[in-house]
Amino acid sequence: MATALITGVTGQDGSYLAELLLARGYQVHAIVRREAIEDADRRMMNIRHLTDALHLHIASIDSHLSVYKIIASVVPDECYHLAAESFVSYSFDDEASVLQSNFNATHFLLASLKELAPHCRFYFAGSSEMFGHATTSPQNETTEFNPRSIYGISKLAAYHLVRNYRQNQGMFACAGILFNHESPRRGFEFVTRKITSAVAKIHLRRATTIELGNIDARRDWGYAPDYVDAMHRIVRHDVPDDFVIATGTLHSVRNILERAFAVVGLDYRDHLQFNPEYFRPNEAVALCGDYSKAARLLDWCPTRKLDDTLEEMVRHDIALLGARE
Ligand code: GDD
Repeated sequence: MATALITGVTGQDGSYLAELLLARGYQVHAIVRREAIEDADRRMMNIRHLTDALHLHIASIDSHLSVYKIIASVVPDECYHLAAESFVSYSFDDEASVLQSNFNATHFLLASLKELAPHCRFYFAGSSEMFGHATTSPQNETTEFNPRSIYGISKLAAYHLVRNYRQNQGMFACAGILFNHESPRRGFEFVTRKITSAVAKIHLRRATTIELGNIDARRDWGYAPDYVDAMHRIVRHDVPDDFVIATGTLHSVRNILERAFAVVGLDYRDHLQFNPEYFRPNEAVALCGDYSKAARLLDWCPTRKLDDTLEEMVRHDIALLGARE
C-alpha cells in the first residue's frame, strides 16, 4: 500500500485530495495544526467525514524539527505540499509571515525528504499569482513570471526551490501552477464563496447586501475536484515536471454575481455595495491559463463549467444555513 503525506489537508484542496487518495487505496497521513484540532467545528469541517480513515499528525510545518520527525516516522512515497498562507489580500498586510511560512515550510519538507525518503515524489502547489503582471496571455509553463503580490513572490521562490531539488539534487519534485479553483469547500474569504454565502443569506432573509471590491476583475476559475485529480496525475507522471492547470476561460466577478444571484431568482444589482477596502493595490492582470501541456502529457482537462460550480455552491450554502436554524 502506497503512503501519502498531505499538508493543508483541512483546506478545500487537501480534503478532496485525501478523499481521492483514500479511494485509490493509499494510506494517507496529514499534518494538522493544534489550533485546527482545538477549533474542530470550524477548522476541521472539510475532513470531518474522513478523520477515522486519516492518520493525523499534530504539528506546525513552520518547525523544521517537527517536519523532520514526521517524515522520519511516515517515510512517504508521495508528499503533497498544499498548506500555505493562501489568501492574496492578507499577504499585503503581513508580508513577513507569508514569505516565511510559504517558503520555509517547502524547504523543511524537501530537505527532510531528501535525507529520509529520497524516493518520495513531491508535489508543490504553485499558483497563477506567480505570473502576476503577465505580459502575454494565456499563460503556460514557459511564460515569464512577474508576481505582483507578496503571496505570488513567496510561491515563486518556493517554486524555484522545488525546481532546484529536481534539477540539481535528483528528487522527483514537481509543481502544479494552478489557476483559481472553487467548490462548496472554498474558504469564505475568497470571492466565489463570499458571493454564494451572501446569496444564501439574502435568500433566507438574513442579510440584504454584499460588499465587494473590483467586480470587473477577471480570472480563470475551475472546479477544485478536477484540480486535485490533476495533482495526482502530475505526481504519477513518468518524469517530474511542472504543469499549468486551468480552464483557459476568463470570467469576471460581475459574471459570478449574475449567475449566483440568478440561482435564487435575484438580481445582484439590488444587493451590491462597493467597499474600497476590498480593492487590491496591485491586482494581477486578467490571468488565463493554457493547460495544453497537461492535456497532452497527463490526459487532463477540466470537466465542469463555472456556472455549474456556482449553482452547486449556492445550493450548498442555502442548505448549510438552513441546517443551522
Ligand atoms: N476575496 C475577494 N473579496 N476578492 C474580490 C473582492 C472581494 O470582496 N472583490 C473583488 N475581488 C476580486 C479580487 O480582486 C480578485 O481579482 C478576484 O476577485 C479573486 O479573488 P480571490 O477569490 O480572493 O482569489 P485570488 O485570485 O486572489 O487567489 C486565489 O487563486 C489563486 C490562484 O490563482 C487563491 O486561491 C490563491 O491562493 C491562489 O493561488
